[in-house]
Amino acid sequence: MRPLSDWDDWVSSKLDRRERDGLMRTLRPVERTGARTVCKDGRDLLNFSSNDYLGLSQHPAVLAGAQRDLQKGTGATASRLMAGTDHDYVALENAVAFFKGTEAALVFGSGYLANVGTIPALVGRHDAVFSDRLNHASIVDGIRISGARSFRYRHNDVEDLERLLRQAEGEGAEHKLIVTETLFGMDGDFAPLAGIVDLKNRYGAALMVDEAHAVGVFGPQGRGWAHELGLASEVDIHMGTFSKALGLYGGYVATKQSWARYLLNTARSFVYTTALPPAVIGGIGAAMEIVMAADYQRKRLRHLSDMFRDGLKRLGLDRGASVSSQIQPVVVGGAAEVVAAGLQLEELGVLAVAIRPPTVPQGGARLRFSICASHSEEDITLALAALEKVAAGSSNHAG
Ligand SMILES: Cc1ncc(COP(=O)(O)O)c(C=O)c1O
Repeated sequence: MRPLSDWDDWVSSKLDRRERDGLMRTLRPVERTGARTVCKDGRDLLNFSSNDYLGLSQHPAVLAGAQRDLQKGTGATASRLMAGTDHDYVALENAVAFFKGTEAALVFGSGYLANVGTIPALVGRHDAVFSDRLNHASIVDGIRISGARSFRYRHNDVEDLERLLRQAEGEGAEHKLIVTETLFGMDGDFAPLAGIVDLKNRYGAALMVDEAHAVGVFGPQGRGWAHELGLASEVDIHMGTFSKALGLYGGYVATKQSWARYLLNTARSFVYTTALPPAVIGGIGAAMEIVMAADYQRKRLRHLSDMFRDGLKRLGLDRGASVSSQIQPVVVGGAAEVVAAGLQLEELGVLAVAIRPPTVPQGGARLRFSICASHSEEDITLALAALEKVAAGSSNHAG
């Protein structure tokens, strides 16, 4: 038996290793002081680290929707299959299905739970899953749990995807599932959906898209990237989350009636967990109505994102692959450098998350800026000025 002191040594050595590699994660206490600011150590910082793209987490109508339903109780008290399902949940699923243009939808406790439950329900050890190399951890974990043969194709590379589809066909996979984010959360670029749909049809695969970052921001009425491209009906499973542009919490999949019924029976992260609290459902209902009417905020978001990107271009900073979304990385390279750059930015009043491996590939550490409709042009100008100072400091240092 391993003595407890061995465990302590093992944990310490793992932590030391993380610290040495510049990969230590810590929780940073902050207080939200407005739609676009947080207070840290007594100082207000402009917040570019939130995914509250439309500023709905503090919208009065969303707060009112949540407050109204809070009266129903603080918790859902059990899984929906155990305690019966309140008609508000069913109404929300109908609204999501309408929004996504599908027959049905199923609400999960979070986007993470939607992915880790849906993928293993659809594929198992005789099947093959094709996943973009930069897909979110919840997709990666869903594939791991499924036990299906995993084929990871090069980021947004349709030729590589086809090569792997052919290989799987040779190996006799029973079912084939392609999974991709539409707007990539750490890179801000888009999946080549038309090419992927073409391959899905030619190779008889099912297609699941994760629209976590695109919903609310792209597509008519914010319905997502697949709708923006007119390809929504080619998608078998539309996954999304209420935790980003909708400003709340929870996830969903929208699909055919029979698939939703099947998932309700088999997705373990749906069956074996407590339903979302009523107040969250009430808030989501209000947020969905606002999202559909939020063309002005979407336009503003695009304008501010373009302004930020143009500024980065002028400064000669590495913008990665993001050319037209609200997610804008500034690629720094090394893990230690990105942490130092993040701290310097904070000194200058700007908060942007330092993203390091394994969330992004080795050498691709970056500051991730997410622009929100609640930012102002002055905020963008201030962030650019701060980045200019940090970049000048690091090049002086290098010289
Ligand atoms: C692409 C993607 N999918 C899924 C998730 C998980 O969503 P949630 O935060 O609702 O669990 C996230 C966000 O964290 C994400 O970025």
